[in-house]
Amino acid sequence: MEFFLDTANIEEIKRINRLGLVNGVTTNPTIIAKENRDFEEVIKEICSIVEGPVSAEVIGVTTNEMVKEARVIADWAPNIVVKIPMTEAGLETVNILSKEGIKTNVTLIFSVAQGLMAAKAGATYISPFVGRVDDIGEDGIELIQNLKQVLRNYQYTAKIITASVRTIGHLEKAAVAGADIATIPGTLLPKLWKHPLTDNGIQQFLEDWKRVPKRFETLL
Ligand code: G3P
Repeated sequence: MEFFLDTANIEEIKRINRLGLVNGVTTNPTIIAKENRDFEEVIKEICSIVEGPVSAEVIGVTTNEMVKEARVIADWAPNIVVKIPMTEAGLETVNILSKEGIKTNVTLIFSVAQGLMAAKAGATYISPFVGRVDDIGEDGIELIQNLKQVLRNYQYTAKIITASVRTIGHLEKAAVAGADIATIPGTLLPKLWKHPLTDNGIQQFLEDWKRVPKRFETLL
């Protein structure tokens, strides 16, 4: 499973990148707005840190607006993926861009039908929002399982990015369901490697070590 970071915060990206855990980055207008920086500048900086795909979202609504923006954004770096919202104009945009070799990530997917449409239109990635599906009383992970099955049934090449990941459970269940990628907020990721029993175990080992004669430390 690939891990993308769902953030535009440079410190978070650098910290997690040092662990070798970052395969890509996703952003959206909300995430960009949090950084209070120029859109192009921050995206280019992320692209210079991370080798993998970096998603940057269009804000246009019509096909013409989105295609125009996408062509500009795609030129910023070789690893750019243009994020397009799941609308009729969005599907038309994806179809045009895919023929130009521009990679796309269709975002705000909440149903199997939407995911299937995006894959058919030529999306490189599709982003179902598990947390927001749960928010409306449906099952976000079931959506991932069903999308995985449908893409497999018809051998679509679109990869599933599990988005709106809020909990460790979301990540674990998306992995079990076979989602290709999970995009994880920078604040959630450190919780994935923490466990209270690990911390207790380390504490206990350090306590017990105090009873061992001190020859090893003198070698350091
Ligand atoms: O990956 C999409 C994400 O940025 C939205 O997350 O928690 O606002 O639904 P959330």
